[in-house]
Amino acid sequence: MPFPPSFIDEVVARNPIEDVVGQYVNLKRSGANLFGLCPFHGEKTPSFSVAPDKGIYYCFGCHKGGGVINFQMEIEGLSYGDAVRALAKRAGLEVPEDPQFQSRYKQQERLWALSKEAARYFHSKLYAQEGTEGLSYAQKRGMPKSTLTKFGIGFAPNSWNGLVDAMKAKGYTDQELKDAGLVSEKNGRIYDRFRNRLMFPIIDVRGNVIGFGGRVMDNSTPKYLNSPETIIFNKRKNLFALNLAKKSKLGYLILVEGYMDAVALHQYGFDCAVASLGTSLTQEHAVLLSRYTEQVVLIYDGDEAGQNATRRAIPMLEAAGIQVKVLRMHDAKDPDEYLKKFGADKFKILLEEASNRVEYQLGAIARKYHLNDDEERIQFLREAADLVASLPSPVQREIYGGRAAETAKVTPEAMKLEVDRARKRREKREKKQEEQKMLSPAQNLQPKSRTIRYEDIRSAMAEEVILANVFKQPSLLDQVGSLTAAQFSCPLLGRIFRQQQDRYKQGLEVSASVLDGLESDEMAHLAGILQRNQGPVNEQAFADCVRTVLESDRARNTVTEQDLLALRDKMKEKKGMKL
Ligand code: UTP
Ligand code: MN
Repeated sequence: MPFPPSFIDEVVARNPIEDVVGQYVNLKRSGANLFGLCPFHGEKTPSFSVAPDKGIYYCFGCHKGGGVINFQMEIEGLSYGDAVRALAKRAGLEVPEDPQFQSRYKQQERLWALSKEAARYFHSKLYAQEGTEGLSYAQKRGMPKSTLTKFGIGFAPNSWNGLVDAMKAKGYTDQELKDAGLVSEKNGRIYDRFRNRLMFPIIDVRGNVIGFGGRVMDNSTPKYLNSPETIIFNKRKNLFALNLAKKSKLGYLILVEGYMDAVALHQYGFDCAVASLGTSLTQEHAVLLSRYTEQVVLIYDGDEAGQNATRRAIPMLEAAGIQVKVLRMHDAKDPDEYLKKFGADKFKILLEEASNRVEYQLGAIARKYHLNDDEERIQFLREAADLVASLPSPVQREIYGGRAAETAKVTPEAMKLEVDRARKRREKREKKQEEQKMLSPAQNLQPKSRTIRYEDIRSAMAEEVILANVFKQPSLLDQVGSLTAAQFSCPLLGRIFRQQQDRYKQGLEVSASVLDGLESDEMAHLAGILQRNQGPVNEQAFADCVRTVLESDRARNTVTEQDLLALRDKMKEKKGMKL
């Protein structure tokens, strides 16, 4: 069900790309562009660009790009239609909607509303007759009323249909209850999924209730029952309490394993704590965190699983440009227990002592070896040297090299030799990778998207320049002479050219952000072309490129003598006869 083009133009015009992207990415101006850390891949230096004048974004690292609608689709995982709807809503525009059309976005809105109602229901039960057990359990765990209110913690009574009945009375259907993951089903009948559990609502950064974690109040299993994945609940992309922690003034975020840990930290004044949702940390989580902070303190349980999780999380967070510190718990199993045993002041000291990730990793390597054994000491030194060699600054290398030397009881000079050797190995490896990239320059010019291929590189390069200039100065479309879209070697670029030509003739705006009918990889490809061809319009280059495309087209369509000879040979082979 396509929207009228005028409506799309309006939606795009009312949603400046820098504002929409700015909701997710911290952008800094540099010339005509804004730059920030790409929200789609982990990176430490900004290669994500937004060009307000062109209405596009483009990442020079991962080659994602497009207009404001593509951005909305990509960042929220929406279809084209739903991205348009979301942007229309943002700008307060009425959507010309086919009433038959039940969109995913509308469905999501229903499920958010339902989940919020469910959270209200659970919370109210905490103070109802059926909830006394829940409330006393919460109290036993040291949660005052203010905490219960702040987190919207609730209680699911020991009933098969309490929630189902309450939500149906509010007009929600069986199907919606199923879609929200609030019920289970047996023999075609639905019943409450969460029973006799303390309920932790999971709320996304926009404040929507998207799921629940429910804890038993005894030792039965599973200890926590979580909502299943639904169209509104994605465990890989959300973190518990981030909706609160993002407002913290502390300047860093604390990442813990448990709901209870996050709740306790907030309660004791560390209002920057978040927890993952019973799954290990993903790259998406890391990128999400990087939108709100540059520093994360990792506190995982001291057991082996926790240490493994720490080891896996560090590179992911660093890849998202986050500086990582690691806090090792002593004398308590987790932060919740620690705070309740020793209080906030002691915990603050632990936090201040939290080691940066290099110290932590050096410690972890040291613990692997018996340093009294010479052979193992050598292995420790080698591994430590690899770690130190990976550090970018000489000061860092000196400090941590010195520390590793101390640990292994060798002289700093000996350690430095080992580190230098490790650096040489690294450099060699990097150089080799670089060379391999350089080996095939033609390959480099090929589009990054696998679905788009340039058959005629020379012509395609010229076509790119033509398009880039046309977007900068549409009146150049009057100077293309006999060039038509059909002469473009790359059908995609030809299609874009034709569309802009049509718009120009009709007196409509020529802009990358209003292009219609492009797949997202095609749009990304165009954004890349525009961002790579910056600078002022060059009419001479434009004219040269028009000529190149015309020539290339002629060459492709001219049968040469060589072609004829080849054809003759082929026929000879086939028929075995003389021509
Ligand atoms: P923990 O077992 O460490 O629980 O699991 P906790 O948060 O410290 O809770 P308390 O103090 O025992 O009440 C850590 C996290 O792992 C997930 C939950 O997200 C939990 O907060 N988990 C754990 C589950 O999803 N299911 C389980 O059965 C257990
Ligand atoms: Mn715990």
